[in-house]
Amino acid sequence: DGRARVLADGNEIPLLALGVWQVPDGPECESAVRWALEAGYRHIDTAQAYGNEASVGRALRDSGVAREDVFITTKFYPGSSDPEAEAQRSLERLGVDSVDLYIVHWPQGGPTWAWDGMQRAHARGYARSIGVSNFGAAEVDALLKVAEVPPVVNQVQFSPFEFRRELLEACERRGVALEAYSPLGTGRHLRDRQVAGIAERLGRTPAQVLIRWAVQRGLIVLPKSTHRERIEQNAQVFDFALAPADVAALDGLDHTGGTDQALERPWW
Ligand code: A2P
Repeated sequence: DGRARVLADGNEIPLLALGVWQVPDGPECESAVRWALEAGYRHIDTAQAYGNEASVGRALRDSGVAREDVFITTKFYPGSSDPEAEAQRSLERLGVDSVDLYIVHWPQGGPTWAWDGMQRAHARGYARSIGVSNFGAAEVDALLKVAEVPPVVNQVQFSPFEFRRELLEACERRGVALEAYSPLGTGRHLRDRQVAGIAERLGRTPAQVLIRWAVQRGLIVLPKSTHRERIEQNAQVFDFALAPADVAALDGLDHTGGTDQALERPWW
């Protein structure tokens, strides 16, 4: 029904996730995740580097929602020992037997550096799917050349303003689904005049327009909020559609030239 898609390895992934980057471990993270689960989110995106896996796990248990009904993503922080060992630690913090998706946080050390360990984590059953983040098209290609278990997602900063169409098309051609982080531009894009104009005309909010733009493209989208009403609002994107003219207007906001040249390199 447009709320989920099937990854190249056959696993199903809900398109809408709560992202918890920069949400401190503790009550703030726990309540955000609990509110999201109450609002119908079935996908939470965390990371070893976020330091809040324990809160995500606690909120999941407290929510009463069955573990198998929630898609949990976490990420390996390159440079820290080894993905297989770190996956075990993430699972302990989360309090789960496996995650649904385990991602290399960025291509530090090169695009293939962590992959052997990622495949071992997958083989051990610590992760049902494995993927990457912040990879450009050339890095995805380099990894696909050597991978026995290919990555099924690439998580990058993506929005109408960072509409990396060439990267998106390259990934989709290779069976790599694109995940959009910071889909609201960490809040900056909510103030854009054109986004606000479309939202006003549709009786929606700017956040809903930006999130809808992503799901309508089949992207997995990870808006972050710690406010209950915003978390709820951001989930109300499956009861309306953007007309082709509005999608085209939003596409036109891109300032990346469609390529992966402006990909964030947080470790550089
Ligand atoms: P907060 O967490 O205080 O609610 P992104 O997902 O692109 O990283 O954007 C996250 C930022 O956008 C956060 O600062 C978040 O603030 C804010 N935000 C998220 N959803 C909404 C919303 N529906 N309305 C206004 N601001 C929002």
